[in-house]
Amino acid sequence: LSDFLSPDEITHIGFAHVGNNVLISRHALFFAADHISIADNVRIDAYCLFSGGEGIRIGRNVHVSAFTAILGRSSLEIGNFATVSARCTIFTSSDDYTGATMTNPTIPADYRGANHAPVRIGDHVIIGAGSTILPGVEVGNSAGIGAASLVKGNVTAFDLVAGVPARVIGRRVDGHLRLADQLLAVKRREVPNFGRQRT
Ligand SMILES: CC(C)(COP(=O)(O)OP(=O)(O)OC[C@H]1O[C@@H](n2cnc3c(N)ncnc32)[C@H](O)[C@@H]1OP(=O)(O)O)[C@@H](O)C(=O)NCCC(=O)NCCS
Repeated sequence: LSDFLSPDEITHIGFAHVGNNVLISRHALFFAADHISIADNVRIDAYCLFSGGEGIRIGRNVHVSAFTAILGRSSLEIGNFATVSARCTIFTSSDDYTGATMTNPTIPADYRGANHAPVRIGDHVIIGAGSTILPGVEVGNSAGIGAASLVKGNVTAFDLVAGVPARVIGRRVDGHLRLADQLLAVKRREVPNFGRQRT
């Protein structure tokens, strides 16, 4: 049993770009879909909410698990083979918490001090369930983020971070890179264009 949309239904959402073999739950919600670009073999599960902002680019073989929200006015890039586990929230905008200005979108912009900044999640990153990523964060390639983490600053490639706020707790190994090369080689033999499309 599946609640994934048919290719025609996906076309009707009006994405800027959508690749081949993309699975999108009919219970996912997209605002400003024309600012959202999705590469091949991506899966987006039920109750995800994407707000297009200045642009969302999802790389190939990315999984965005159930109840994940992408919110804010700036841009988000998620690299190839990245995993966003259930109930994550990625913010590209956040209100001013100092008290110097008013907060929330019912208030005119002149009275608010919201911060809008792009977020970049690298290739092969894995984000544990229930984590929150704040505006301006860059998560380096192959980094890992433990469950229920609050990521306020940049994460170095291959670092494993966790906690509130997230701190380095270890390093990831690079076995997944060799396996990805093998997988791409096998797929290219099956489908000559596999893995060469623009993301
Ligand atoms: C991050 C993670 C992979 C680390 O696992 P691990 O390598 O076995 O790490 P350990 O349990 O040995 O913990 C190492 C240290 O990090 C801390 N830590 C581990 N995970 C943490 C988390 N999510 N938040 C805060 N601290 C965490 C531990 O308390 C421990 O601290 P200490 O050295 O002070 O005692 C794992 O804890 C985790 O969060 N996995 C996410 C799983 C998930 O969300 N899956 C969803 C489906 S993909």
